[in-house]
Formats: sequence, structure tokens, C-alpha cells
Amino acid sequence: METIRSAAKAATGGGTSAPTGPRDGPPDTPRGGPLATPVCALFGLRQPIFAFSHSIPVAAAVSRCGGLGTYGATRRTPQEIRDELALLRRLAGDAPIGVNLVLPPGMPEDDDPDAIERELPERHKAFVRGLYDKYSVPPPKRRGMRTRFLRSNEIARGQMEAVLESDVELVACGIGMPADFVERCKRSGKRILALCGSPKHARRAIDSGADLLVAQGHDSAAHTGPIGTFSLVPQVVEAAGDVPVLAAGGVMTGRHVAAGLALGAQGAWTGSLWLATDEYAIHPLLLKKLIAAGSDDTVVTRSESGKTFRQLRSAWSDEWSAPDAPRPLAMPYQDVLVGDLLGAIDDHEIEPLMHYAVGQGVAWIRDRRPVAEVYARLVEETLAALGAVAALAGGAR
Ligand SMILES: Cc1cc2nc3c(=O)[nH]c(=O)nc-3n(C[C@H](O)[C@H](O)[C@H](O)COP(=O)(O)O)c2cc1C
Repeated sequence: METIRSAAKAATGGGTSAPTGPRDGPPDTPRGGPLATPVCALFGLRQPIFAFSHSIPVAAAVSRCGGLGTYGATRRTPQEIRDELALLRRLAGDAPIGVNLVLPPGMPEDDDPDAIERELPERHKAFVRGLYDKYSVPPPKRRGMRTRFLRSNEIARGQMEAVLESDVELVACGIGMPADFVERCKRSGKRILALCGSPKHARRAIDSGADLLVAQGHDSAAHTGPIGTFSLVPQVVEAAGDVPVLAAGGVMTGRHVAAGLALGAQGAWTGSLWLATDEYAIHPLLLKKLIAAGSDDTVVTRSESGKTFRQLRSAWSDEWSAPDAPRPLAMPYQDVLVGDLLGAIDDHEIEPLMHYAVGQGVAWIRDRRPVAEVYARLVEETLAALGAVAALAGGAR
């Protein structure tokens, strides 16, 4: 056990403290280490731990620990993406970093929320007005995160150009992989990761040029498909052939990382794990809800954006699943319908309606800690779990 502990400590650069240098740990810490799998060599990682986060400090801290932090930029303007990726690079030093975009096909050509607004059904608008009244939500102070710009081809083109100009090593495609974008990314030395919810997605992503895949099971936060992580990961591994696969959906402890490796993945892709970190700085009311929640306190709903989305159950999801509620609209109509209300709920802290994307792994969120500590614990637990499995299997002989 002590050997495993020291191996884990060495693997994370020995650190649970905040980043201090260009990369956590001694500057001459070799890349690779006891947990390194072949996917680590693609990026020069110490451990195959990948993190998705909407927080630049979280993504930077994970990269500095020896994994790969990916910044979720889907709701950011092209100029914000330029500035934020430059900041991420400054904070991460020479450690590899990534960016995530969601590029769904079939969106309107131009950024014109007013045009979409005019098409919204009266029944849906009345339902939303009813929520303002029932929960005494004051008018929004500004346009909400989902309405400050419309998901459109115009915005997507600008976002892709900003990513292409950056020096990120990894581009993670949440939904959609436009062929021209993929080709230009690869020409400029960036690797393409695709999030997949089924073996069919995996085959399509490989045909479209993905360099690595995430098998994102039903447990996970955000846009999830119906297949559970345990069933999905080995199927995607089989479909992927030589293309490396990362396991996602409920990866919250080292036992989960070890299980992903046992299922054939080369590492883990994590999201919910980083919500309760000092660097993420989530609203205290939401942190309280996350800590109180168990795995059965999350729901998959289309009420957030028009696409399936796992989040904490709240009065928001309950209202939208009531028998007399209208069915959520398709993206981007739902964005425009609810975007300003969602912004007002957060701005005015309307507690019963406040919610957040999180996976079923929320059960493991018990307190708030620095990223470096969460990372070090994850690595230590993974090595311990692998050791325990080996001992168990050895005991059977
Ligand atoms: C708050 C939050 C927001 C997310 N937003 C996105 C997103 O914009 N694009 C995307 O591809 N995935 C998004 N995800 C999903 C993650 O990429 C990842 O697949 C997922 O969190 C893995 O499951 P886990 O949450 O159980 O670790 C989000 C996850 C969280 C927790």
C-alpha cells in the first residue's frame, strides 16, 4: 500500500498545493509514470486524466498536474475564446491544453435571436411567463447565457476560427464535427477528440477523422445518450480499433478510473468531478445542492437547451415534466424561449429553480477542495484500486 502511495505521489509531482511553477512538481519530473497508458504519449501526459471544465483555472490546474484540461467554450464569443485560450495557455505553461466546442448541424445561418423569438409558440411563452409569476422572478438584468448570442452557423464559424488561431493541442467536439474544421485542425497539429454516446457514433467519428474518442455513458452530465457507461465503454473500444478511447460518465474516484481501464479504455474523461473545486468557484447555493444530492437526484431533460441534458433535479425540471407543461422546443428555439429566464434565476438567486449540469456521480461530491488535491487523490486511488484488483485476482489462484 505504501509503495502504491509513493508511486501516486511521485506520479502527481508530489503536490496537493496550488500550482507554483510552469508545471506542478519538480521541473525535471519525467513524463509518463506508473499510470501512463499509450494515450499519454500523444500529448506528453503523466496520467491519462482528462478534464472538461467551463473554468479556465480548473482546466489549467489539471494540465499542470499532469493530465489534460479542456476548456468548454461553446457559449463564448469568438473574441472571448481568443482571450480565454491565451489566458489558459499562460496559466498552464507548456502543459498540453484543450478546448471544447458544440457544433450541432441544422442551426440558423445568422445570429438573430429576434427572428427566432417571433416564431415561438404562444403556449410556450405563456408557460415561461407563468414561471416568472409563480416563483416571483424579477426581470433579467441582462441577456442570459443562452440568449446573449444565438447558436448559428455565423457564430460557429467565428468560434472555429478562434480555435484554429490558438495553440491548443486538443480540440474536443461535443456535438458535430464539420469536415473542413477537422481537416484544418489536424493540419495545424491539433488532435481531434469526439464525444460518443453509442458505437455507431464512434464509427462515424473515426470516419470523420477523430484521433481519440470519449465513450460518454448515460451517467454523465450534459448531453447524454441512453446507454450506460458500463455497457458503452467496451462497445466503443471494440468499434474504435486502434483509436484510443477514454471512459466518461460517473468517473469520480480512482475505482472508476481503474474500472474504465479494465473495460478497455486508455484513460478517463471527467466533468462533474471538478465542480466542487476551489478553482471552479460555483455559487454557494449550488454547491450546497450538489453536496446534498445523491445519484437519483439528477434528471435528463430537454428543457435547458432543446437537447437532452443531465442536471440536478429542481423545481425547474419538475415544472417542465409536469403533465400540463408544453414539450420543450428544439435547439435553438428552447435556448431563446428560456435563456433570459435562466439568466434571471441565477442573477436573482431564485433558489428552488437554481440547478446545474451534473452527472450521477454527484453522490461523490462531499466537500470543496483544490484541483491539485482532487487530482492527486484520484491518481492515488486508481493505483490502489488496480493493486487491490491484482491482489484479489492473485488470491483466487
Ligand atoms: C457543468 C457541465 C457542463 C458541460 N458542458 C458540456 C459542453 O458544453 N460540451 C460538451 O461536449 N460536454 C459538456 N459536458 C460533459 C463533459 O464533457 C463530460 O462528458 C461529462 O461531464 C462526463 O461525465 P461526468 O460528468 O459524469 O464526469 C459538461 C459537463 C458538465 C459537468
